[in-house]
Formats: sequence, structure tokens, C-alpha cells
Amino acid sequence: MLENLEPAKLELEGKTYLLPTVRGSEGEKAININSLRKDTSYVTLDNGFQNTGACISDITFIDGDKGILRYRGIPIEQLVEKSNFSETAYLIVYGKLPDNDEYHKFADTLNSHSMIHEDMLNFFHGLPNSAHPMGILSSMVNSLSVFYPEVYDPERENEAFDVAVARVIAKIRTIAAFSYKKSIGEPFVYPKHRYKYCANFLHMMFASPVNDYKLDHVLIKALNQLLILHADHEQNCSTSTVRLVGSSQVNLYASICAGICALWGPLHGGANQKVIEMLGYIKDQGISVQDYLQMVKDKKNSIRLMGFGHRVYKNYDPRAKIIKKTCREVLDHLNIKDPLLDLAMEMEEAALNDDYFIERKLYPNVDFYSGIIYKAMGIPLDMFTVMFAIGRLPGWIAQWKEMRDFKPVKIGRPRQIYTGPNLTDFTPMQERK
Ligand code: ACO
Repeated sequence: MLENLEPAKLELEGKTYLLPTVRGSEGEKAININSLRKDTSYVTLDNGFQNTGACISDITFIDGDKGILRYRGIPIEQLVEKSNFSETAYLIVYGKLPDNDEYHKFADTLNSHSMIHEDMLNFFHGLPNSAHPMGILSSMVNSLSVFYPEVYDPERENEAFDVAVARVIAKIRTIAAFSYKKSIGEPFVYPKHRYKYCANFLHMMFASPVNDYKLDHVLIKALNQLLILHADHEQNCSTSTVRLVGSSQVNLYASICAGICALWGPLHGGANQKVIEMLGYIKDQGISVQDYLQMVKDKKNSIRLMGFGHRVYKNYDPRAKIIKKTCREVLDHLNIKDPLLDLAMEMEEAALNDDYFIERKLYPNVDFYSGIIYKAMGIPLDMFTVMFAIGRLPGWIAQWKEMRDFKPVKIGRPRQIYTGPNLTDFTPMQERK
């Protein structure tokens, strides 16, 4: 629900302008500047969109100061405890929890779309073994649009939407597992209809023609939890990318491909890989926790404590809290003693008691402990961000759909303040100094 409030007064060059203001259902307030440029000839400047509400949305609510995250109103703590990834995906995409029939129909549709077109295997064969799985994933998701081109027609997209949703959620998991098999030179393992979403993924990753993979219910539960915790996070970098690219009315697959590329960066989803690399480096080099924190705090270095800090959370990331607990459970269950977990916990404790981190309100984020769980599951380092992408998919889809359904339809097109040269005549080559 959007409520109109008293207009804000803006004084500019001796004139007063009234700007509409609104309040969302959780009390967040905004000044609507849609007509600012038309009325005043001014635009707003907001580096990194730190203060810009790009849309109104019904999907996800975050209170970064209180450490709250809810999908369609439901706290993530409850979803992690009581739901699974497929059900949460349905909730995020369709806006309500499915009833029994809806859930089974959705799960069956995921199953029926879980294979990828055999011709797509040619792409895998053409890629070098060294290809980063995020590069493979983004290319393959984009190539879904050429294998299933009907989604190109915006008029027909609504009808095809349910199929496209199931197709992309089901196939991303197959593509991810195939890209791993490609990287280790093993034959692809096909999905099995009798397995549910996460079990099927682990099966495709770790079974082989000579070796069945014994499904482990603790790992399946942990994977469901991790994917649920990544499923949406309102207007983050990759989601905003999906919305912006999709606003040109390009198809769902191309928009999601762009989101995958945005997620890849180390300041976003790529951080889960960087955390493990950082912890490994600290351990291998024998650097003490305090010395590393000193390096991070020294502004002459550009080193950051990976897995710490967040644009929105100025409190403990609620996802990190759950993941830390799951991490301990998985390692105990597998009887693994990972020195990186001890190091991560020591680092967290030291950082949370350090003035630099306290003053800046820097806490562990979702990426700080997730990599340790993936490592324990046997998922290789360069696949960690792929796992994030599989989890984030329902959010990207829901945000894309919400953006497409919003009226009036507007292509995303920010303004700028130009600071380059004024009018300059072309100088012929021979006269250039
Ligand atoms: N280590 C050390 N210092 C940090 C860190 C960090 N991880 N994060 C922020 N800071 C410091 C900055 O140097 C800055 O200090 P200053 O005020 O003295 O200049 C201050 O905290 C504010 O930082 P910004 O970069 O302005 O914060 P912003 O909101 O733009 O960035 C970000 C958020 C990108 C997540 C940042 O905290 C970071 O780089 N973290 C490490 C990478 C990471 O873990 N990314 C994953 C984020 S979660 C996700 O995307 C899924």
C-alpha cells in the first residue's frame, strides 16, 4: 500500500516547489521527483544510487538497521525453518504460498523442464576447461533465448511466462552442474525426476557413470536453506541490472543473463569466492588476524575484509546469522574440522570489537560463512557465485515481472551532469600538437 503524505517544499533560485511524498507499508518514506526536471530544470545526483528509490515493490522488505529480511511479508527465519527452495521460489514469483495442488504442479513443471536441449551441449564442448562457471552460466542462460525464442514477443510473454519461469529455474541448475562436469572432464549426469530440486542438483554434480551419489539429507536441507536465503534482496546491483535491462522489453533470459554478469563481481556475489581465497591467503601466509585487520584498515591499501559490510545492513545481516549456524551443523555432521571456519570466527570476533568496524557499522554479510558450507559439500571455489545465482533466480524473475507489469511502462534511463569539454572544433591530423 502506498500512502500519500504532505508534499515536501523545495526552494530553488528563489522559487518554492511542492514535491509529492509517499510512504510504503513498512513506513519507508520517499520524495517523488518525477517532475523535478520538467518543473525546475534540475536533476538529482546520487553516486551509486545510495539514496534513490528506483521503484515501488511488493516483493521483499529489508530493515537494514534492525537486521530484518522478509519475502512477501514472511520472515526468512520462518522460511528457512519450514519451507524449501521450490516453495519459496513460488512465493516470491507468484506473490503467495502455493496450496497443495499448486505446489505439486509447480514442482512437476520444474521436473519436466529440467533437461537442456541436446544441441546446447555443443556450446559446452566448445568452451575451454578453464572457463569460469559464471561465464558459462551467463552465456548458457542467454542462449536459452535462442532455443526458446517465443519469449521475444512481449505480447505473448504473459502467456509464456509460467513456462519461462519453470524453464529457467529448472535449467539453471542443470547448466550449473554440467559446467562443473565440463571443468573436470567428466560426462554430464542427467537430472532424475524422482529427486526434488536440491537433491537433483547434488546428484548431477557428484554422481558419475561409475559411482552413485548417496544423497545426504543434512546437505540437502542446508542447500535448501542457502538457496532460500539468497532468493531475493530487493534492489541490489544484480536485481537493478535485471530491471534496467528488462525495461528495454528484452526477454527474461537476456535480462537474467545481465543479472548473472552483475552478480559475478567481487563486491557483489563474487565475494563468497573471495572470502575463502582471503582466509586461505591469511592462513597460508601465516598472517595474524590483528595484522590482517590492520592491513584492511590502512587506507593506503585497497584491501577490504571480504564478506563484511553491506550497503543496506548496518546491523548483523540476518542471513549471515542463520548461515553461521548451518555452517557449524554441516561441518559437525560431516565430521570436518576446517581451520578456515576457526579463522573466520576469530576474524569476525576481532572485527566486531574493533573501532574501525564498529564506527562504520560493518558486520558479516551473507557471503562470510556460505563458502565454508559449499566447500564442505564438495562444491569447488569457482562455483560459489554460481550457487548464489541459482538461489537469486526467483528474485530476479519476480522483480522483472513486477517491472514489466508496472504502469506506465518506462524504459530505465538516468540523466547525468556533463563535465567534459565545451564546444571544440575538430582539428585535422596534421595540425594536432
Ligand atoms: N572492509 C573494510 N572496510 C570497509 C568494508 C570492508 N569490507 N566495507 C566498507 N568499508 C569501509 C569503507 O572503506 C568506507 O570507509 P571510509 O568511510 O573510511 O571511507 C566505509 O566502510 C563505507 O564503505 P562504502 O564502500 O562507502 O560502503 P558501500 O555501501 O558503498 O559498500 C560493500 C558496500 C560494497 C558491500 C562494501 O561493504 C564492501 O566492499 N564489502 C566487501 C565485499 C563484500 O563482502 N561484498 C558482498 C556484499 S553482500 C552481497 O552483495 C551479496
